[in-house]
Amino acid sequence: MLNIVLFGPPGAGKGTQSESLIQKYGLIHLSPGEILRSNIKNNTDLGVLASSYIDKGNLVPNEVVIEIIKSEVYKHHNPKGFIFDGFPRTQVQAKALDVFLSEINESVTIMLDLQVPKDDLLERLINRSVTSNRVDDSDISIIEKRIDVYLTETFPVKSFYTEQNKCKEINGTGTVNQTFNLICEQIDKVSILL
Ligand code: AP5
Ligand code: MG
Repeated sequence: MLNIVLFGPPGAGKGTQSESLIQKYGLIHLSPGEILRSNIKNNTDLGVLASSYIDKGNLVPNEVVIEIIKSEVYKHHNPKGFIFDGFPRTQVQAKALDVFLSEINESVTIMLDLQVPKDDLLERLINRSVTSNRVDDSDISIIEKRIDVYLTETFPVKSFYTEQNKCKEINGTGTVNQTFNLICEQIDKVSILL
């Protein structure tokens, strides 16, 4: 299986790139953010809980997100692989992912760190706020908070993958296609070895 962790700050292009990657490599897209937003839309108990964190730009508790992703992974039989978009976002989540993948004799193949400077992230997210309907895009202070949370809570997870020699840095400042090509180069190098 090809299991990709798509890492990077809010607005880096994780969702955008996931769409093309699932097509090209036949992978299953797992984004806690999208699953939680769908629960918020349907007003489920999980959605009510999640919005109390998401709307302020905070992370949803580890145990909630881990359970969601773990149960999604177990739902699929003989998949070609998964793209984890925005997961893991803490060391606890990173360790849990290794554990539940090992339970199906799998592991993370590659971690792609999409790198985009803060000014570009702000511009992208402010532009998107016009059409996105995302509460967490609706105010510059929430966008800034998400970026701060990324830097303090999520960025340290990078070292977890660097130590395993699985982290590949990707310049995410080019066009969507340019970034996609850089990502595919890295995936194609590791998938030869699978
Ligand atoms: P999540 O949904 O993961 O949002 P995020 O990480 O804040 O990132 P975004 O989805 O905003 O950005 P993206 O990197 O996907 O970029 P996109 O492709 O959309 O998480 C939301 C919330 O859910 C979290 O704050 C947290 O509360 C909770 N949550 C989620 N996962 C969690 C976890 N693991 N643990 C705990 N809580 C969790 O692109 C952004 C914009 O830029 C778009 O308009 C796009 O068109 C544009 N764009 C993309 N690429 C380019 C490019 N190359 N050039 C120009 N524009 C571009
Ligand atoms: Mg996204």
